Amino acid sequence: MSNKTLAIIKPDAVKKNLVGQIITKITEAGFKVKAVKMTKLTVDSAGGFYEVHKERPFFNDLVEFMTSGPCVPIALEKENAVADFRKLIGATDPAQADEGTIRKLFADSKAENAVHGSDSDENAAIEIAHFFTRKELLENYPN
Ligand code: CMP
Repeated sequence: MSNKTLAIIKPDAVKKNLVGQIITKITEAGFKVKAVKMTKLTVDSAGGFYEVHKERPFFNDLVEFMTSGPCVPIALEKENAVADFRKLIGATDPAQADEGTIRKLFADSKAENAVHGSDSDENAAIEIAHFFTRKELLENYPN
């Protein structure tokens, strides 16, 4: 099992100045921040990141939203990272998310849902590599 996942604090949450509160929730839940940056995605980068959703009816809106302002990708480490992070953020639709989850607390809608979390170990590795170089992940300095 991998112990890494990729989080993105999405443009809606950045605009609402929630970066600090969301990172606090993440670290209080036991995740270690391995790398973090603030970046404004291009259409190509957002489209590539969400390539698996290319045929979905919401794809264009998703790319437009993800390029609407800066976002904050974060490479995280914890035992059972993918599953534990998805539990911490709650369901895609905040209306369906459990009480206390990040999306329940901070998201407005299914489309503007404050945070992303990888859905598998395989995708976590791909998604982390989308945003961070090996040097940025400080892989030579693991602790
Ligand atoms: P995320 O976890 O980043 O992965 C894919 C994203 O697509 C998802 O969060 C939502 O923001 C978005 N999404 C998924 N389903 C829908 C939908 N039915 N309508 C609009 N956006 C959606």
